[in-house]
Amino acid sequence: MPNNVVELHDISRVYEMGEEPLYALKQLTLSIEDGDYVAIMGTSGSGKSTLMNLIGCLDRPTEGRYLLNHKDVFHLSDDELAAIRNTTIGFVFQQFNLLSSMTAIENVMLPLVYAGVDKEQRTIRAQFALQQVGLEQRMYHRPTQLSGGQQQRVSIARAIVNKPRILLADEPTGALDSHTAEEIMALFDDLVEQGITVILVTHDGEVANRASRIVRMRDGQITSDSRIRSKNEK
Ligand SMILES: Nc1ncnc2c1ncn2[C@@H]1O[C@H](COP(=O)(O)OP(=O)(O)OP(=O)(O)O)[C@@H](O)[C@H]1O
Ligand SMILES: [Mg+2]
Repeated sequence: MPNNVVELHDISRVYEMGEEPLYALKQLTLSIEDGDYVAIMGTSGSGKSTLMNLIGCLDRPTEGRYLLNHKDVFHLSDDELAAIRNTTIGFVFQQFNLLSSMTAIENVMLPLVYAGVDKEQRTIRAQFALQQVGLEQRMYHRPTQLSGGQQQRVSIARAIVNKPRILLADEPTGALDSHTAEEIMALFDDLVEQGITVILVTHDGEVANRASRIVRMRDGQITSDSRIRSKNEK
């Protein structure tokens, strides 16, 4: 039996805009196994970010059932959702979303502040996360003093500092040149090897081909779902 960390059953996400309801996701069903590496592709507006936000508990479905780590998240309060998100999920965005007034290490420590971890532990864990992404020499730089690739490394360190089960990345290489993108993708490979489930959205076929499974979307639905290598195979 596969251990599914994500199970979406008949999920719809409807936006009420004007006369017609807009189905950003339409009765979508998808399961993702623990430790898998999944790329989500699809044209602009097909619902990829909407799907990622639902998986990451940043948003709720209009209809359907979502089991995260076997737990039905539908009836949880906003606070309970935030708590699950903080301990289970790491998020990486195309535009890094770092706080410009804070140094790299302060940005990485933020999720630990929310989790109530004390200062000494925060520092130790943030330093370790920054080491993991190869940025131990840049811990006290601010985002504007870092290159795009380095900023994305900080945001990955921030996403993994809580040791999440699942890492969600929405176009993580979209703002990077191909060489820097390659370095970031190598980092994702490392994380998958460490057992983290990685789900990423990309327009780039080369990026998608590093995953083990490619899911394609159109108009809020899945149009194809193919495993290109077995889980954990290099
Ligand atoms: N807050 C919102 N209010 C109304 N409609 C929305 C909202 N967010 C998304 N949509 C609509 O839902 C659909 C899916 O959007 P989504 O952002 O998920 O697409 P996407 O696949 O991520 O596109 P892209 O590749 O451009 O990032 C689009 O038609 C979009 O206009
Ligand atoms: Mg998007």
